Amino acid sequence: MKATRQDRSKATNHAKPHYLICSCLLFFFAFALGMVSNPYLQSHRELCKPCETSLNFSLPAPEPVSLMHDMSEEELLWRASFAPKIGHVLSSRVPKIAFLFLTRGDLPLAPFWEEFFKGHDGLYSIYMHPDPAYSGLVPRNSVFFGRRIPSKPVRWGQINVIEAERRLIANALLDSSNERFVLLSESCIPLYNFSMIYTYLVNSDVSYVGSFHDTTPGCLGRYNPAMAPQITAEQWHKASQWVEINRALAVEIVSDEKYLSLFQKFCLISWKPPCFSDEHYIPTFMAA
Ligand SMILES: *[C@@H]1O[C@H](CO)[C@@H](O)[C@H](O)[C@H]1NC(C)=O
Ligand SMILES: *[C@@H]1O[C@H](CO)[C@@H](O)[C@H](O)[C@H]1NC(C)=O
Repeated sequence: MKATRQDRSKATNHAKPHYLICSCLLFFFAFALGMVSNPYLQSHRELCKPCETSLNFSLPAPEPVSLMHDMSEEELLWRASFAPKIGHVLSSRVPKIAFLFLTRGDLPLAPFWEEFFKGHDGLYSIYMHPDPAYSGLVPRNSVFFGRRIPSKPVRWGQINVIEAERRLIANALLDSSNERFVLLSESCIPLYNFSMIYTYLVNSDVSYVGSFHDTTPGCLGRYNPAMAPQITAEQWHKASQWVEINRALAVEIVSDEKYLSLFQKFCLISWKPPCFSDEHYIPTFMAA
């Protein structure tokens, strides 16, 4: 593993960024991020009305009742790709951590998470991407109530895993208060309390993405030379899919069309040998 620093936008820095790659077991096993609610989520049609709400970033934006929306995938990613042009952050803005749960159905460890989030309203946002067929009910008093986003089927090892990750990140980006984004599975549990994790992440100027490169069948063996020259063999990296990223990198990931389309064509589980896109997409995107 090597350390990677990602504190600059790829868009403005075409030179190879200096990464501080850190494989944090903390994030591996643990938790996630949050962000501010956004008026698009309830009904983005309301955007057409004159601006009635003046943004006050010292207050958490009102949480929408439901995160469901009728935006197409294309529109969602487009809206999520907006980034502020002014580089410095408003001193009054309270950053949130977005916790992104990629699950099949129930969250078996929900009671731990409820305890973890208790008393920290306004400092986190939760996003749930279960299977679309999942019909479990979430109690009204749960932190997970109303936090489900429009989802699509996800199957182990398939390209739709990274599409779902991008969908989670994109929904969280719609809330401008979300500053850090933690991708989690249904078996993740937090190893530290909320205050520790919040303070650590909000004061961090790097993203936490595992990344390594080797010539074994499990890594370079999955590289398809048809991806060159956009993705070279040297740029092909592997990692756990569970990451913790800052807003700048989140915007880069949802804005990516070039690398995603190569993965959609040339990194498929049905190939021989199979290619598991979720283990390669983000670390390779960062290295390319
Ligand atoms: C924003 O909210 C804070 C806290 O309630 C308040 O003190 C401040 O005056 C508000 N700012 C504006 C511009 O409304
Ligand atoms: C969170 O954990 C840290 C380190 O274990 C501890 O010092 C702190 O008191 C804890 N905070 C709360 C609110 O329990």
